[in-house]
Amino acid sequence: MKALVIFAHPNPQSYNAAILDAVKAELGQQTAEVRVKDLYRMNWNPNLGLSDLQQIYSGGMPEDIAREQADIRWADALILIGPIWWWTLPAIVKGYIDRVFSYGFAYEFTEKGLRGLMAGKRAIVITTSGADEKGAAATGMIDAIKTGFINAVFGSCGFTPIAYKNCFGVVETSDEVRRHYLEEVKEFVRNNLA
Ligand SMILES: Cc1cc2nc3c(=O)[nH]c(=O)nc-3n(C[C@H](O)[C@H](O)[C@H](O)COP(=O)(O)O)c2cc1C
Repeated sequence: MKALVIFAHPNPQSYNAAILDAVKAELGQQTAEVRVKDLYRMNWNPNLGLSDLQQIYSGGMPEDIAREQADIRWADALILIGPIWWWTLPAIVKGYIDRVFSYGFAYEFTEKGLRGLMAGKRAIVITTSGADEKGAAATGMIDAIKTGFINAVFGSCGFTPIAYKNCFGVVETSDEVRRHYLEEVKEFVRNNLA
């Protein structure tokens, strides 16, 4: 099993960083080969700009994008970890998707419409929220993330299966619950890599 972990939190002391450590520990248990993309530490450029578009549509590929695509090609599983910010993931994640999941690499158009090119790869998404489960259900935030981000991106690109877990209320909850979530995250990764 080859796992590409995409991590999107600027603070290495954050709870999300603890989730990253738990995921890496679990992947170690599974003897998976692991590559981690720490988007803030990489100083990832999230702007799909004119020069990117010109290169991509003329058959080329900017070097930083080509490196990421090689790692995605290599992976059997993509594991994305990050906080929920404004009902979605941080903008740097969107900018990773915008630039790396390019036409002809992640998807294409056929006579039958959009076709994902990531078949054979699984996706696991783990997020954290300030909202607790009840609050999130009341607003529809998780359904919005599933539709507008997870299915829109990973579904469209043909990843399968796609597994999603959110750790609710992590700001206000107790350390005990936060520790318990880390065990749940490990179990979630274990179950969804099988
Ligand atoms: C810019 C920003 C936007 C946020 N938007 C949301 C939101 O839409 N829904 C929510 O439940 N929590 C929201 N939060 C709270 C974060 O999800 C929460 O701080 C994070 O999950 C805690 O994990 P961390 O300690 O690793 O940062 C937001 C926080 C920030 C900084």
